Amino acid sequence: MLYSLIKPILFQLAPESAHDLTIQMANLCPTLGSLTGIPTNPLLGLKVGSVDWKFPMGLAAGLDKNAEALEFFNAQGFGAIECGTITLKAQEGNPKPRIFRYPEEKSLRNSMGFPNQGLLSIMPRLKRYEGSSPLGVNFGKNKDTTPEESIEELSIIFDTLSHEADYFVINVSSPNTPGLRALQDRSYLSELFSELKKEANGPDLYLKLSPDLSSEKIIDLLHLAREHRLTGIIATNTVIMPERGVGGVSGPIIREKSREIRRIILKEKADLEFIAVGGFTHPQDVMELWKDGGKAFQVYTSYVYQGPKLLQDFYKTLLDFITVQKISLNDFFHLSLEERQYRLKDFSP
Ligand SMILES: Cc1cc2nc3c(=O)[nH]c(=O)nc-3n(C[C@H](O)[C@H](O)[C@H](O)COP(=O)(O)O)c2cc1C
Repeated sequence: MLYSLIKPILFQLAPESAHDLTIQMANLCPTLGSLTGIPTNPLLGLKVGSVDWKFPMGLAAGLDKNAEALEFFNAQGFGAIECGTITLKAQEGNPKPRIFRYPEEKSLRNSMGFPNQGLLSIMPRLKRYEGSSPLGVNFGKNKDTTPEESIEELSIIFDTLSHEADYFVINVSSPNTPGLRALQDRSYLSELFSELKKEANGPDLYLKLSPDLSSEKIIDLLHLAREHRLTGIIATNTVIMPERGVGGVSGPIIREKSREIRRIILKEKADLEFIAVGGFTHPQDVMELWKDGGKAFQVYTSYVYQGPKLLQDFYKTLLDFITVQKISLNDFFHLSLEERQYRLKDFSP
């Protein structure tokens, strides 16, 4: 209700101004988050890696880049909040405009290039955060850092923040930092994983993948992640569509592409945890994900278009599902895939 009043005003503004204004409001008034948020229901909590999410829908990276509105997103009821992408030094990102709307398709394109305030400015906010939604930190290299230097840079961020968040995500899959996606190379990642995983009992660590990789490459990276004892994979980042312009596209436009990649990953799985992202819009999308063998998921673009109603709609459907099934989500995910598919077969949101 509140968002349907504010949205027409926000959508009159340039997309990045609307975004900045929303983050400022959310920062100043976290209680607005609980007014429109969903309740915490223990039956809808689930274990993701070693972390207890309070709802299967998490907030994807990029919306709260500087961890400025964590309390607001916690009050909204997100299962987990992923801030960042954070880099070691503050950086401006690419020239504006760098976020574009496709209102008819309820989608976005962005070429942000990791604008953020840098590790040392962001860290105090992570330290202060006391919410019940677990915190993820998505981190990447500064634009001017060479691949060789980036291993040390990424390991400084990881070591410095390792007690300040519940899980970490290596982002080498953004299309907006020149040469970044080249770091999805096996030998580079092998060296990086060895460095980050030198402590046996470190925090959960994920690799976020681009949807623009071949299936052979994806499978190879899954096995590499497994060999290095990463917790899991997050997929996907935005999709490159040169016909639409620079940057990466997100939202319903990429739903099918993202799903195709996720199915390759879920089929191979390789004993890794998996967090889905890309195009989640309607509760039916979660049912599809669960039929494919997935579990937790994140949203960005559909939250921009639908606001808190997105959480409310998914909450209602997932609550209906577990009520009909007389099972908690954690127990549901302990069932075999065949059993889960069977229980999902006749359920339509
Ligand atoms: C404006 C914008 C900025 C983003 N910034 C980041 C980022 O900094 N780091 C990252 O890993 N993903 C970033 N993403 C990608 C999202 O986390 C997500 O992977 C992608 O948008 C697909 O999900 P969606 O269809 O729900 O938006 C960004 C997406 C958008 C739209």
